[in-house]
Amino acid sequence: ALAIWHQLIKNEIPELSKHSVLMKERSRVEETIYNMQRAGPGSLQVISDFDMTLTRFAYKGRRVPTTHNILDNRLLIDEQCMKKIKELLNKYYPIEIDARLTIEEKLPLMVEWWTKVHELLIEQKIKKDMLAQAVRESRSMLREGYKVFFDLLSDLQVPLLIFSAGIGDVLEEVIRQNQVFHPNVNIISNYMDFDHAGVLQAFKGQLIHTFNKREGALSHAAHLTELKERPNVLLLGDSLGDLTMADGASNVQNILTIGFLNDQVEERKELYVNSFDIVLVKDETLEIPNAILKNIL
Ligand code: C5P
Ligand code: MG
Repeated sequence: ALAIWHQLIKNEIPELSKHSVLMKERSRVEETIYNMQRAGPGSLQVISDFDMTLTRFAYKGRRVPTTHNILDNRLLIDEQCMKKIKELLNKYYPIEIDARLTIEEKLPLMVEWWTKVHELLIEQKIKKDMLAQAVRESRSMLREGYKVFFDLLSDLQVPLLIFSAGIGDVLEEVIRQNQVFHPNVNIISNYMDFDHAGVLQAFKGQLIHTFNKREGALSHAAHLTELKERPNVLLLGDSLGDLTMADGASNVQNILTIGFLNDQVEERKELYVNSFDIVLVKDETLEIPNAILKNIL
C-alpha cells in the first residue's frame, strides 16, 4: 500500500521533479503532503515570511526592494539618510546570509542593523499618508503566482500568517495594492508608531529581526487562537531564521518547510537542504507551493 500512494503522489505533483527543486528526503515530503491532504483544508495553516519569500528576490537582473527598502524614496527620506541606509545594507546584508557564521554570531549584528535603520527612519519624521504612494512608486513585486496562492487560501478559509522582520505598514500596503489582503491574512511584523499628526515617532513592540522570530512566534501565539486547532503547517521562508516561525503553533502534527534559496547558492545549498524539507533554487515563482496547496486542498 505504501508503494501505491507513494506512486500516486509522485504522479500528482510533477513540479517536484524540476531541477530547481532539492529535497533531502523526497519520501518524507510526499508522506507529509499525503497526510495533510487526508486531513483536509480545515486542519491546515500556512505560515510565511514576506521579503524575498512572497516577494521576488530580483527582476530583470535587479534586486527587488524589501519593505525597508521601499522607504528609500525622496518622498519620505532625504539624500543623506538614503546613503546611510544603503551603507548599512552593504555592511550587514552579507553578514545576514554568510554561510560561515552561526546564527549566534549574527544575532547581535542584526539587532545593530535594524536598530540603526529604525533610528534613522524615526529621525526623518516619515509621514503615514505618504507610505501608499512610496509603495506605488517602488519596484516592489510579489512572486509570480501570488494571486493563485492568496486567493486559494482565502477561498478555502485557510489562515495565512505572514511573519516578517520587515515593516508591517509597508507590507500591508504592498498586499493591499496587489488586491490580496484577504480576511484570512494575519501579520506579525514591525509596525510603525505614528503621533497624532501622523508622523513616525517609534516602532511598536519588541523588535523582530531575521533571527529572533521564535520569540515573536511564542509571544503572539496567545492572540492567534484559531491556529491552535490547525495541526498541519506549511511554512515558507528564505532564511534559516524563518524555520522558527512555527514555534508558537501548538499540537503540530505535520509540518512541511519550503525554503527559497535566492542568493549565495553554492555556499548555502547543503545547509538549506539539511534544514528545509524542500529547497527552491533561484525560483522566482510560487509554482511549487501552489502545486502542493492544490494537492492538499
Ligand atoms: O520579511 P522578512 O522577515 O524576510 O524581512 C527581513 C528582510 O529585510 C531581511 O532578510 C533583510 O535582508 C531585509 N532588510 C533590509 N533592510 C533593513 C533590514 C532588513 O532590506 N534595514
Ligand atoms: Mg525573507
